[in-house]
Amino acid sequence: MAKKQLILNAFAMQSPSHLNPGLHRYPTDQGHAYKSLQNWIELAQKLEAAKFHAIFFADVLGGYDVYKGPANLEPTIPAGAQFPINDPLYSIPAMAAATQSIGFGVTASTTYDAPYALARRFSTVDHLSNGRVGWNIVTSYLDSAARNFGLNTQVEHDERYRIADEYLDVTYKLWEGSWRDGAVNNRDGVAGYADPAAVRQIHHRGKYFTVPGPHLCEPSPQRTPFLLQAGTSTAGKSFAAKHAEAIFLHGQKPELVRPSVDSVRQQAKEFGRDPTSIKVVAGLLVIVAETDEAAHAKFAELVKYGDKEGALALFGGWSGYDLSKWADDQDFRFVEQPAVRSMVNHWASTVPGTEGKKWDKKTIAEYLVLGGNGAKVIGSAKTVADELERWVEVGDVDGFNLSYASVPDTFDDIIRYLIPELQRRAIFHKDYAVPGGTFRENMYEAQGHTRLPESHPGAQYFWREGEETPEYARTV
Ligand SMILES: Cc1cc2nc3c(=O)[nH]c(=O)nc-3n(C[C@H](O)[C@H](O)[C@H](O)COP(=O)(O)O)c2cc1C
Repeated sequence: MAKKQLILNAFAMQSPSHLNPGLHRYPTDQGHAYKSLQNWIELAQKLEAAKFHAIFFADVLGGYDVYKGPANLEPTIPAGAQFPINDPLYSIPAMAAATQSIGFGVTASTTYDAPYALARRFSTVDHLSNGRVGWNIVTSYLDSAARNFGLNTQVEHDERYRIADEYLDVTYKLWEGSWRDGAVNNRDGVAGYADPAAVRQIHHRGKYFTVPGPHLCEPSPQRTPFLLQAGTSTAGKSFAAKHAEAIFLHGQKPELVRPSVDSVRQQAKEFGRDPTSIKVVAGLLVIVAETDEAAHAKFAELVKYGDKEGALALFGGWSGYDLSKWADDQDFRFVEQPAVRSMVNHWASTVPGTEGKKWDKKTIAEYLVLGGNGAKVIGSAKTVADELERWVEVGDVDGFNLSYASVPDTFDDIIRYLIPELQRRAIFHKDYAVPGGTFRENMYEAQGHTRLPESHPGAQYFWREGEETPEYARTV
């Protein structure tokens, strides 16, 4: 039987550092070039030559200001820790113009953006990239974002997911149910640009949104962009099982992510979806070199540049807990705060090489400073490839989101050492399944699979040729 082909994405952010606070100080790091379009074009071309499926851009809408806070960015700014940060969407058409097949995942929030406007922006970029854009749907987690969007504090966690669920219905109606297939006929000199009978209002009136439509953009190649999501809570996983085509997760070991993978696939089945059509992609930091020793030495060298205050600032934003409130010698495995205690005990029992270590601030910072909360795989091409194969077998994952310790060096090493080894083992493609195809065609490895799968909930809004109104609208 042919082996499962891995999905490999590069995990990036348009900021001096993403999951590597302080590494802009590393001599060859180009994190500071995040403002340069040429920088992104060159990275996209390099990753496409190596056949990466996509570059996936994380994004946030506020600073990490919980640590030594409240509302304090002093530890964050020197580390360049996801601050300052540019909007990733604007660079996508330029990268698309310089490449043919690589996909672009872009994070956008359902909490701070109107669905009507977001749908238009993604349709625009889907047109300009020939169907190569994906949307990483997030509900956001930073209080600093909430405050800047006119709220005193964040909308309650599960309520954010309820809003997101209706939000997705609005966007599906705009993308799939506002313009009939074949509505545009601008090739016939006699006909009008499009048939007015084939463009309709969506008349969305829900608990959170009122959007009459119609969608401002004509149908783009994928219509709905390829949908990605990363939620770890019960509400987040259920949302992913319903809507996501690819799911991102972080975990230390494949044994530990397996229950989450099984549960999302099982829930997807309950939503009537094909569970194998959901691509599960694990976040990893891979440091690879000629030998295991050389890779470990490289990691040790990179860690020296990590900014520990920046790492604790990232932790503050992710968790909402300000570790500066505790003494420097506090061992957080025994702290009275239950959420922090449980998180740290989880790391203490799973992070390799930390056995018997005291989990004080310094240990937490050293653990998070490169690759964040994702697993780190360090070694020769053989060691790393063996571990990736183990993740697939034990964790039932479909691929990896590879973060960087130093950009682009980490990707250069992966391209030089790891990808040839994966190709030798016949677990990574030598070319795109659909060269010049859409993001969705290349993720599903199926030519012509440009639209949402028929079993996806968004497919109920398709407005097919020959239908006077889309089926969903007939009962409204
Ligand atoms: C691998 C991974 C990547 C993520 N990327 C982002 C991101 O770029 N922006 C963001 O706001 N949230 C991001 N998140 C956060 C989640 O989308 C989600 O909002 C967060 O985990 C809270 O939801 P939950 O309680 O369901 O986990 C990411 C989470 C994971 C695990």
